[in-house]
Amino acid sequence: MSRVRIINLPKIQDLRGNLSFIEGGAHVPFPIARAYWIYDVPGGEARGGHAYRTLHEFIVAVAGSLDVVLDDGCEVRRYTLNRSYYGLYVPPLVWRSMENFSTNALVLNLASGPYDAEDYVRDPAEFGALIARAGGDA
Ligand code: TYD
Repeated sequence: MSRVRIINLPKIQDLRGNLSFIEGGAHVPFPIARAYWIYDVPGGEARGGHAYRTLHEFIVAVAGSLDVVLDDGCEVRRYTLNRSYYGLYVPPLVWRSMENFSTNALVLNLASGPYDAEDYVRDPAEFGALIARAGGDA
């Protein structure tokens, strides 16, 4: 899973409050085409549970915390995100689930493309076939 990584963001510390920012292509390795965010998650719920064929994502816990569980077919890794000044880069063809949301978690997802239901892989068997064909390390 060598392409998956935590990326630290700029943090401008100020007595008036801190500021962080993200520029597409600079802090994340793709142009940002879309932002969406997840919030008001009831206790114990999980989101995700799919992969993308071509989409790149960057996930930031802007408030609160969550766990992102990634599986590239070779390895499973769990990342706890709990600060707003770093995020997790997830390339295509990685199965990803989001769970253990804290109360009041606000999770920002930046994506490389517009919403496209056809880009989702929701069937684990199809995912297995796709990564076998790709033959690579995510
Ligand atoms: P989905 O990505 O399936 O959420 P999760 O993976 O957490 O289950 O999205 C849930 C619904 O929201 C689905 O009907 C599609 C819609 N949606 C959009 O319309 N635009 C978006 O950018 C996203 C991410 C989802």
